[in-house]
Amino acid sequence: MGEPALTRILPADQPSIAQAAALIRAGEVVAFPTETVYGLGANALDAAAVAKIFAAKGRPSNDPLIVHIADLDQLALIAKHVPDSAAVLIEAFWAGPLTLILPRTAAIPSLVSAGLPTVGVRMPAHPVAQALIRAAGVPIAAPSANRFAHTSPTTAQHVYDDLNGTIPLILDGGATHYGVESTILDLSGTPRLLRPGGITAEELRFWLPDLQIVERHNDDAQPMIAPGMLLKHYAPTVPLTLFEGEPSAVRQALRDRAEALLAAGQRVGLLLTAEDAAEIDLPTARIVSLGSQSDLPTIARHLYSALRSFEQPPLVDHLLARSFPAQGLGLAIRDRLMRAAAGHMEIV
Ligand code: TXA
Ligand code: MG
Repeated sequence: MGEPALTRILPADQPSIAQAAALIRAGEVVAFPTETVYGLGANALDAAAVAKIFAAKGRPSNDPLIVHIADLDQLALIAKHVPDSAAVLIEAFWAGPLTLILPRTAAIPSLVSAGLPTVGVRMPAHPVAQALIRAAGVPIAAPSANRFAHTSPTTAQHVYDDLNGTIPLILDGGATHYGVESTILDLSGTPRLLRPGGITAEELRFWLPDLQIVERHNDDAQPMIAPGMLLKHYAPTVPLTLFEGEPSAVRQALRDRAEALLAAGQRVGLLLTAEDAAEIDLPTARIVSLGSQSDLPTIARHLYSALRSFEQPPLVDHLLARSFPAQGLGLAIRDRLMRAAAGHMEIV
């Protein structure tokens, strides 16, 4: 069988959810909205279907997938054992953007979790994701619905831009709410935050006072702390430099670097807060504001589409952005910017 030539985008109403569920049951892949980012889903119990996810994304098979469920009944099928600490977190944060790493049952093909004895599980809060999982009647394995290592999709159009021609259907549920992926928590030993996301470390610490935060800055010189933690990830196709430091110093550094690049004839893009944008007056630079620095949920929600917007004309040669304090949602925003910048951060 060849690859589907045509990718349809359908509004996520009842009939198209039913169509998508039929595709999932037939061993196909379908893109769907969650409250974090769009996912590319397949029947988590069907290794051949899951293999199509890796093929469509160009994702290496050592990068495990997250299994999505709609009801707690499905958890026993996926996780061999649910520790007490997990039960408390499930009660507090599901349905929602929290992925738990738990011991895997034999029902989950090893391809789903890249051969690991564990599996990532989450219950998405998005009504379309829940309806799709229920209609399919199986847990759905789904990574973000982007080409491997590209910026995650927060709209159906983003998915289309990356995967047109490689998947049959995208359910369009509008722009996603959080805009960054789920928080990933490993509960197999001392609780470790593997990826900051929609649920903050501060929220988790209320339940897990000894929570450790894993710095995800793997490079070739270091062993992988956990799979799928490549430094260059979520990357736009434009080189990005990140500036971190005291807010006014960062603003000055952004202005100085932009002016120097512009003077050298380079095209410059700036990814700023509303407060930065009000202070930086560079008519020849391409400026995108993410929102007020005091409103991190809005900044997170806009981050990926802002990064993707710089891939459309008028193109720039350099993208400059500010970093964010590593508190609350700022930890996830900073992490994704670090990855988009492939580690190119300057402390000012
Ligand atoms: O918000 C989200 O989590 C989105 C939506 C679609 O649910 N999904 C998502 O999936 O971000 P993905 O594939 O882009 O990221 C999955 C990551 C892997 O790269 C890996 O770092 C981690 O989850 N992961 C999955 N299973 C794991 C396991 N058994 N042990 C350690 N890490 C795991
Ligand atoms: Mg991803």
